[in-house]
Amino acid sequence: MRTQIGIVGAGPAGLMLSHLLHLDGVDSIIVENRSRAYCEARVRAGLMEHWVAELLVATGVGDRMKRESMVHDGIYIAFNGRAHHINFSKLVNKHVVVYDQKEVVSDLIARRLADGGEIHFEVEDTGVHQFNSDRPKIRFCSLGQTQEIECDFIAGCDGFHGVTRPSVPAGALTGFDRVYPFGWLGILAQSPPPEKELIYAYHPRGFALYSMRGPGLSRLYIQCAPEEDINNWPDSRIWEELRARLGGVRELTEGEIVQKGVTPMRSYVTEPMQHARLFLAGDAAHIVPPTGAKGMNLAMADVRALANAFAEFYRTRRTQLLDAYSSTCLRRVWKAQRFSWWMTQMLHQDPSHSPFDRRRQMAEIDYITSSETGARSLAENYVGLPFD
Ligand code: DHB
Repeated sequence: MRTQIGIVGAGPAGLMLSHLLHLDGVDSIIVENRSRAYCEARVRAGLMEHWVAELLVATGVGDRMKRESMVHDGIYIAFNGRAHHINFSKLVNKHVVVYDQKEVVSDLIARRLADGGEIHFEVEDTGVHQFNSDRPKIRFCSLGQTQEIECDFIAGCDGFHGVTRPSVPAGALTGFDRVYPFGWLGILAQSPPPEKELIYAYHPRGFALYSMRGPGLSRLYIQCAPEEDINNWPDSRIWEELRARLGGVRELTEGEIVQKGVTPMRSYVTEPMQHARLFLAGDAAHIVPPTGAKGMNLAMADVRALANAFAEFYRTRRTQLLDAYSSTCLRRVWKAQRFSWWMTQMLHQDPSHSPFDRRRQMAEIDYITSSETGARSLAENYVGLPFD
């Protein structure tokens, strides 16, 4: 097989990259080790920055999102028995859109296939080769047969545990890592959310987040131990904790819990995000702790830059944008890292915190919820920083 851009991974980054390239007249082929059904069912954070929702609409993959998503003009921060509203529309004249990542993935897969795009699902033993030459190759096994894609460039969009980043020669990349001493227990419950918008709750028992997927479907998260055993969390304990951590600011209605899982919390960035003709995008290059839901949004920002750079290369043969890809993306990546770390440390109970740290944390939440200037900074980051 021969294509211009070989893409490893059919998550939001790989699919959106392939879609944007197609609109620019650049060919690509995607390989993915999971099945299509798995990719379309994997529940992830469901919050899009304003510009990402606009990008889906502008590139013709926003129809279902416009019908089924929820526009949120702000969030609540609950602490000390009160819920404080942060009004994004008023503060920065932007909003966010609640639409699960798996729906974005489903819409993009459908569109790529309708446009004649090539996606190989359920491949095995994927490897990336010769990206130091001008003929990089992706080799994989499909239905018992070894296959090879010869391409001009490879895009590694295969997540934190993927094969592309570890294929870069030792010493060429530097990783920056931070692991948090807690995780999130996430549940999906058939119950009405306690509020029309999200509630981020600071509580001495630990952080909790009250999000949603629809009027009768809640997406709820509870701070727990990093390697928490899900068996420690029978449904009755989950509801008890969710009610306690909401601190009486809203009513909580119970419903059937249809899904449970533990999310680890980690900050990671690799520099640079490129080696020769291998370009890393999304979680393959960086991951954020989930507070603030920046993961998919950052992946979209990476592939927007990468698609523009490839399009410019094929139009003019100039490599300026490709050469600048890593430094362009890393500026936004580090600001999103800073914001995700900041939201996380402000709202969680950290076992290493001293009484001083806890007082400082309370003062920070008090500041953010009582100063318009403080709230505006949160709002600007939450809805997505402007591109410059
Ligand atoms: C969701 C997840 C997040 O991490 C967040 O900050 C907001 C919303 C969600 O899954 O709905």
